Amino acid sequence: MKQNFELKLIDKQNIPTEEPERQYYFMDIAKNYVAQLAEKKGAPLTFHVTTFGCQMNARDSEKLTGILERIGYVEAEDEKADFVIYNTCTVRENANNKVYGRLGYLSGYKKKNPFMMIGLCGCMMQEPTVVEKIRTSYSFVNLVFGTHNIYKFAELIVNALESERLTIDIWKDTDKIVEDLPVERKYSFKSGVNIMFGCNNFCSYCIVPYVRGRERSREAKEIVREIERLATDGVKEIMLLGQNVNSYGKNLETPMTFAELLQEIEKIDGIERIRFMTSHPKDLSDELIETMKNSKKICNHIHLPLQSGSSRILKIMNRRYDKEHYLELVRKIRAAMPDIAITTDIIVGFPGETEEDFEETMDVVRQVEYDSAFTFIYSKRMGTPAATMENQVPEDVVKERFDRLLKLVQDISAKKAGALTGQTLPVLVEERNEQDTRLVTGKLSNNSTVHFEGSKDMIGTIQNVYLEECKGFYYMGKVVS
Ligand code: SAH
Ligand code: SF4
Ligand code: F3S
Repeated sequence: MKQNFELKLIDKQNIPTEEPERQYYFMDIAKNYVAQLAEKKGAPLTFHVTTFGCQMNARDSEKLTGILERIGYVEAEDEKADFVIYNTCTVRENANNKVYGRLGYLSGYKKKNPFMMIGLCGCMMQEPTVVEKIRTSYSFVNLVFGTHNIYKFAELIVNALESERLTIDIWKDTDKIVEDLPVERKYSFKSGVNIMFGCNNFCSYCIVPYVRGRERSREAKEIVREIERLATDGVKEIMLLGQNVNSYGKNLETPMTFAELLQEIEKIDGIERIRFMTSHPKDLSDELIETMKNSKKICNHIHLPLQSGSSRILKIMNRRYDKEHYLELVRKIRAAMPDIAITTDIIVGFPGETEEDFEETMDVVRQVEYDSAFTFIYSKRMGTPAATMENQVPEDVVKERFDRLLKLVQDISAKKAGALTGQTLPVLVEERNEQDTRLVTGKLSNNSTVHFEGSKDMIGTIQNVYLEECKGFYYMGKVVS
């Protein structure tokens, strides 16, 4: 946004080359610039980060927020802010369309606000066609960066502030993991923790390996250090994040299994609940099941994406398990932990899916009886092997199958909900109930929602709650002291 900044205190000749020192250096410069702009504006500059997509993106947005707050921006409730950032997702086509639609609105705000900057980052920006479209049709954007260089955010902000034109910085891949940058958590009592980045699986429908790069695990000692700090800070629940947590540690200098990592994390005082996602069936080990069974902290829930119940389709999807293997895993998990909640992801209408294939999926859903399932209509992603496969399934056929699957999933969830009625179980209180302020809302270990009478100061604590009754998909309960 080029504003003739004065830079008195900082020596721009001696830029550190090491990370994270380099980024802290740029944070100081950015802070100085932002202060100058705030003086011109006569008020603090504000920001808003809008997050699309999965928990990885949600965690990345907390990193962006951490840096923005450190350099003097103040969070605004909506997109009428001085710096608006879209952290994008491209896993399905509709995720992309949302972003273009909303950029239209933003250009209107920008015309009225001389201080306004717009930044785009995340998975969509790793696609060259997207960046080209932004360059040509949305040139009012100030900054575009990708998933691999998000740690450079402070440096990129300085570039964008000093420049009149669109700053674009996208890397194809990286093997770098930069630790110890600022993070601002959305919740005081729970936090995501990256244990690995990228994905090496190349499921044939999926764009994630192309936009998130090769799989890299963080060093266990860095993960443990981060979680210890979170615990000191009052965090009770952590969600370990990776596209395939079951292959954690394979590429570390001293290899380590995911189960071993969990055992290390279990020892950290103050952390009371451990969750993780996502668990790929092909790498789920007996050691993990045993570790979950013996753990006092790992939650009673596993998200185990099925994608399809047809072994023929699973093979073409490159999932590297078949229907029998999947059902066997579920049997082993339930034998070890009888009341565990199992949830899944399913894709309907993968190229070449026949009625018989689809019935195999319905069959697995009936056998497993998922507590809940995310169902997706197959979306063609350019550059993936499935995009050029013949026999793309006609839209009306997919829609009809999707509706049938959704009905089955919902009927089963409804039947299973309420199984814990009459028990007294620990609930992590997350928020005040929006509709009725006498109530608070929290989560059971199996991720079910519970509402009960309580006060604001219960937020972030674990309460023993008697589950009085189940209403649809949530419980109504009473605190037992
Ligand atoms: N790494 C996770 C999935 C991350 S993507 C895993 O392997 O399970 C989240 C979900 O999006 C996937 O489980 C899949 O069901 C869905 N998905 C991915 N690509 C898709 C596509 N092209 N069309 C429709 N759904 C897709
Ligand atoms: Fe995509 Fe498969 Fe990797 Fe999951 S494991 S992110 S579905 S390629
Ligand atoms: Fe979307 Fe990227 Fe996550 S494509 S689902 S935000 S890894």
